[in-house]
Amino acid sequence: MREHNIVVLKGDGIGPEIVDEAVKVLDAAGKKYGFKMNYDYELMGGCAIDETGEPLPQKTVDACKKADCVFLGAVGGPKWDGVPGNKRPEAGLLGIRGALGLYANLRPARIFAPLKEASPIKDSITEGNLDIMIVRELTGGIYFGERGTGVENGEEYAYDTEKYTVSEIKRIAKTAFEMAMKRNKKLTSVDKANVLDSSRLWRKTVIEMSKDYPEVELNHMYVDNCAMQLVRNPKQFDVIVTSNIFGDILSDEASMISGSIGMLASASLSDGKFGLYEPIHGSAPDIAGLGIANPLATILSAAMMLKYSLDEGEAAADIENAVNAALEKVRTPDIYKDGFKKVSTSGMGDEVIKNL
Ligand code: IPM
Ligand code: MG
Repeated sequence: MREHNIVVLKGDGIGPEIVDEAVKVLDAAGKKYGFKMNYDYELMGGCAIDETGEPLPQKTVDACKKADCVFLGAVGGPKWDGVPGNKRPEAGLLGIRGALGLYANLRPARIFAPLKEASPIKDSITEGNLDIMIVRELTGGIYFGERGTGVENGEEYAYDTEKYTVSEIKRIAKTAFEMAMKRNKKLTSVDKANVLDSSRLWRKTVIEMSKDYPEVELNHMYVDNCAMQLVRNPKQFDVIVTSNIFGDILSDEASMISGSIGMLASASLSDGKFGLYEPIHGSAPDIAGLGIANPLATILSAAMMLKYSLDEGEAAADIENAVNAALEKVRTPDIYKDGFKKVSTSGMGDEVIKNL
């Protein structure tokens, strides 16, 4: 029997409850397709701060490095708002992305057919379907650049810096071009090259790289224009590649086209098959423990994990289909509509399993 050893980081807020549903689905898929999942539960984020005083204990990093891949719920919450920036739950997330070299963040934004009315974008614009892949650089740029705070002439200041090297841009561009080759061979590189030096280097490097991918139709867009185009005409996009901070912002925007941020999965990859999988939404502390969170983004992240890291493509496709089938019948409150049965977090997990 094939065995997969993964580290699971449930995190904070709704993290534990949505991860439990994904684990349930993974186990059910394993039974059907003949593989066994072994889970090593470790701490990261607020729960790790409470237990150990650190958002990312070394033990967690070591366990992740030994695993086949990592599965994450969500981290953060108001409880830790008062702690200094470098000790916040989010610092754990950035730390693990850096420590594991997860430079390529794949964030698919798509409309799920049964949910198409939930999209705030008119049907005439999306024609009821949309499938964009955002490739976000994840271990560079302003998130990891030189930063500081101080006092100058009696006044407090703070700064962060955006810096990219050619090799950092090249490796993320390669991921994006290869993704485009597997999809519709259309790539939009998003930058702010009319203002930023780092963006000018980004654009120059992407253009250089495009010579290796003559079949891919490449265009460039300023980030402000891209934010507008995502709402005006999202169908023009296939694959978008962009920097860490622009990708953070644009992926939240693109996710809403699907109707609920509770639907979107993500993969963060290094070279090869190693990756970390998580829903793109946060820990939603306001609804934690109520059993009403939508577990589908997490379940779809589990499907991405099976596909990209664990060579279980068939099981992954089955889970995706089961999610669509579940949506035809039941809804969690965030996507509820008359005519459907309203279910809890675990009710949704059960329905997905029923449709496997
Ligand atoms: C995301 C999140 C994180 C980010 C936060 C929680 C640090 O918004 O994964 O998009 O900004 O990368
Ligand atoms: Mg974000």
